Amino acid sequence: SGKSKVTIVGSGNWGSVAAKLIASNTLKLHSFHDQVRMWVFEETLPSGEKLSDVINRTNENVKYLPGIKLGKNIIADPDLENAVKDANMLVFVTPHQFMEGICKKLVGKVNKDVEAISLIKGMEVKKEGPRMISNLISEQLGINCCVLMGANIANEIALEQLSEATVGYRENKDIAEKWVQLFNTPYFIVTAVQDVEGIELCGTLKNVVAIAAGLVDGLEMGNNTKAAIMRIGLREMKALSKLLFSSVKDSTFFESCGVADLITTCLGGRNRKVAEAFAKNGGKRSFDDLEAEMLQGQKLQGVSTAKEVYEVLSHRGWLELFPLFATVHEIAIGHLPPSAIVKYSEHKPMLS
Ligand code: NAD
Ligand code: 13P
Repeated sequence: SGKSKVTIVGSGNWGSVAAKLIASNTLKLHSFHDQVRMWVFEETLPSGEKLSDVINRTNENVKYLPGIKLGKNIIADPDLENAVKDANMLVFVTPHQFMEGICKKLVGKVNKDVEAISLIKGMEVKKEGPRMISNLISEQLGINCCVLMGANIANEIALEQLSEATVGYRENKDIAEKWVQLFNTPYFIVTAVQDVEGIELCGTLKNVVAIAAGLVDGLEMGNNTKAAIMRIGLREMKALSKLLFSSVKDSTFFESCGVADLITTCLGGRNRKVAEAFAKNGGKRSFDDLEAEMLQGQKLQGVSTAKEVYEVLSHRGWLELFPLFATVHEIAIGHLPPSAIVKYSEHKPMLS
């Protein structure tokens, strides 16, 4: 048949909610196979059962999204190669630090005419410079890769509360529309925009600003301070995105992936929450420690992204142009105290 088969690579907190959105749509739309495979990074639960078995038995990801039914047409599969082998649409949604390893395992295993989309917020840094995750997927697997980013705290979308998102595409508007069809629901409003780099950089860089916002919360500063940090952060997001890719559009920062994601993450995200605890502890307990204790297996992206951004900035000689980004990393590694986040005006002015 000409129906598209969808596989989701990843099954964390957002991965599971993405599965729920997709599963509801493939049942309704004739252009997709009903059944959707979801690759699960296998683990054994305290009960002794395998996570993938429990998902298939209960239709719930009891570890990463408890209490929410995913849809009976979701099949959890712990075998990565098997999960992707018949797919012609691949949805990538894992913490960014695992994607290099996952791509290595997938080389030669996916069909060449597969279309991919990345929901992953992050980048990697190599000698050659920064590489966005959609680009890693695209280059390693020889396939086209769109992105989906937005103001999307997963637990809220799981409860079907209205949210918006942005799909980024390169040239092919038809492919972008197909992804919009797959994700869009009455409570999840998706818009396609032709600016992959801008959209992916928004999703990636706002996690560093969210760490800064969480530090401000932990220091018990008020809303004005937090708003100032968000404004300065947004300016740095825009300036760095444009320095890295001259094609990035100003209007992208006003889409869901831009200012809206920045706001929701700085108010209610995991990066914010753990950074608040970090500042409350005076920086004496590491982010790794707090992440393990507070997030039960879920992963932060902002701390490693701050490091990656710092490497890019220092390599290019841009550190003093981006005092907020640089300061977040220096605080995270213990070179500066959490309070340095509000000593910010002593630094040189940044790019406008
Ligand atoms: P998560 O934070 O829940 O991460 C845990 C996942 O990582 C689990 O599925 C776990 O099995 C897996 N994992 C652990 N070790 C692994 C390994 N060695 N190899 C492969 N996988 C491993 O994940 P998430 O919330 O689904 O986030 C995925 C991406 O989506 C991130 O880039 C995140 O920024 C982005 N995102 C998250 C949200 C959200 O609200 N959770 C919203 C929008 C975007
Ligand atoms: P956190 O990872 O900080 O929870 O942010 C989630 C997110 O990206 C919301 O869009």
